[in-house]
Amino acid sequence: MSSRVPLTYGKKVLELFRNPKNLGRIEDANAEAIAGSLACGDMIAIYLKIDESTEKIVDAKFESYGCAANIAAASILTEMVKGKTLQDSWKISWKDVSNELGGLPSVKYHCGVLAVGSLRRAIRAYYTNRAKPDWLSDELTQEEKHALEEEKLMEVLAKKAKRAML
Ligand code: FES
Repeated sequence: MSSRVPLTYGKKVLELFRNPKNLGRIEDANAEAIAGSLACGDMIAIYLKIDESTEKIVDAKFESYGCAANIAAASILTEMVKGKTLQDSWKISWKDVSNELGGLPSVKYHCGVLAVGSLRRAIRAYYTNRAKPDWLSDELTQEEKHALEEEKLMEVLAKKAKRAML
């Protein structure tokens, strides 16, 4: 008998999981990033096409190896940032994403956090070889820290698993 409790996803999450918008990669993206989560072993990649003169996101796509919530979060996030400046996109929090989805089950908050974490990484990546704007903090945001912590933990566990196999 399984102890798993079925999750109650909202209509919007299920709709975007079944028919995600912006799924795929942008070959000539000028910013991209990936983020991985230990909690589930899932990964997400975000691709952005940015108009250099206006700093507006003209196209955004994603690839997700995550769960339904992660796919829906990345899908809605890429919709939310299209047409927005990088500064406005930077301000989008995982709570905004969750609200836009009509809410996420609490055990699935991190799926939204991971999507926002990878978007913020992509925005940082864009400024790697450009003058950094004032609004871009040096300190990592909550969403970026979350992605980093899980990746570090994943590395440690992978090492332990390798040692156990020797
Ligand atoms: Fe890992 Fe959702 S459970 S991204």
